[in-house]
This record gives sequence, structure tokens and C-alpha cells, in this order.
Amino acid sequence: MTNEPDRVCPWQCARFLDNWVRRAVHNPAKIIGRYIEKGQTVLDLGCGPGMFSLAMAEMVGEKGTVISVDIQDEMLQILRQKSERAGLRSRVILHKAQPEKIGISEKVDFALAFYMVHEVPDKAGFLREVAAAIKPQGSVLIVEPKFHVSKPSFEETINVAESSGLRLISRPNVLFSRAALLQKD
Ligand SMILES: C[S@@+](CC[C@H](N)C(=O)[O-])C[C@H]1O[C@@H](n2cnc3c(N)ncnc32)[C@H](O)[C@@H]1O
Repeated sequence: MTNEPDRVCPWQCARFLDNWVRRAVHNPAKIIGRYIEKGQTVLDLGCGPGMFSLAMAEMVGEKGTVISVDIQDEMLQILRQKSERAGLRSRVILHKAQPEKIGISEKVDFALAFYMVHEVPDKAGFLREVAAAIKPQGSVLIVEPKFHVSKPSFEETINVAESSGLRLISRPNVLFSRAALLQKD
């Protein structure tokens, strides 16, 4: 078992992050479907048990790739099993990050950071690394929970993202959440 700092959602909560209620409230097709095309390489940052990763794997199709990143091995193993059962394993790369470093070298068309940026200790370093991983014209969707992240704190995250070379495009509506879509020019 990993021993992560208190702010990180523990892997034992995985079932609360992927179940039919969550899929109804945070329907992946509605939230990210419009940003992903077949054949793309996409990134799921802080993938947890992979509700979004599996939906992304369907969206990119058999020629696309999803890089699913988490700091907890247990979350990645849960996703490994689910992707095998769903016949999507070959489209999903599982990557164990460190809290202070994502550590991927691939360039991606789209990145999702759903309910995870508030768990990252060094947001500026993290967002610089995210920006560097995005292809030109690629985009990043950051979604944070209203119950954990205040409006000023979310605005600060957007400011930091903009200082990292990402441009705010829109503020999509996501239930119970604060959300921002940013693009790399
Ligand atoms: C609240 S869960 C959200 C999971 C998933 N995005 C979802 O919405 O279902 C946050 C996840 O982010 C991961 N995480 C926290 N800090 C991280 C970091 N620095 N890099 C990568 N993943 C991180 C945690 O281990 C946890 O699985």
C-alpha cells in the first residue's frame, strides 16, 4: 500500500469515483466527448480508477492512445483490470507519476485533469509540465470540485496555467464543479 499525503484521495475510495451515479452526474461523453477525436493521443492526469480513461479509450478508437497517470499504484492496477475486462487494454498506457513530477515524454492532443489539481503540491511545476506535454492547438480541461476548491483558489490555478503558456478558452458547465478549458497556441 502506498503512503501518500492526506490531501490525496485514497485508492480505497475508488468505488465512489466510478459507479453508475458518478457516470450519470459526470457523464464523460457530455464533458469531454467534444474535445477528443479518433486516433488522438490523450492524457488523463490523476486518472484514479479510470472512469474517464476508459471513456477516452473508446473515444480515441483503436488507433488512439490514452496515457493514464496517477501517483497511486493501486489506482493504476484497478484501471489495468478494468481496461482488460473492457477489451481496451492495448489503448491505455499506465504511468506512475511522482507527486512533484508527471514524467512523461509523449506529446498529447488533449489532457484532462479532473478533481486532481488541488491534490498536487506544486501546481506551478505541474502545470508547466502539462503545458509542455500539449501539442500546439491542443487543449487541457481542468475541473475542480466546488466543495474543496474556492473560486479564488480556482482563479489562481487558471492564472498559473496561463503563466505556463496556456490560454483560457472557455468555462464549461460541469455539475458541482469549477471548470476551465485552456489551449496551447
Ligand atoms: C479525486 S481523485 C479523481 C480521479 C479521477 N480523475 C476521477 O475524476 O474519477 C484524484 C486522483 O489524483 C491522483 N493524484 C493526486 N496527486 C497527483 C499527482 N501529483 N500526479 C498524478 N496524480 C495525482 C490521486 O492519486 C487520485 O487518484
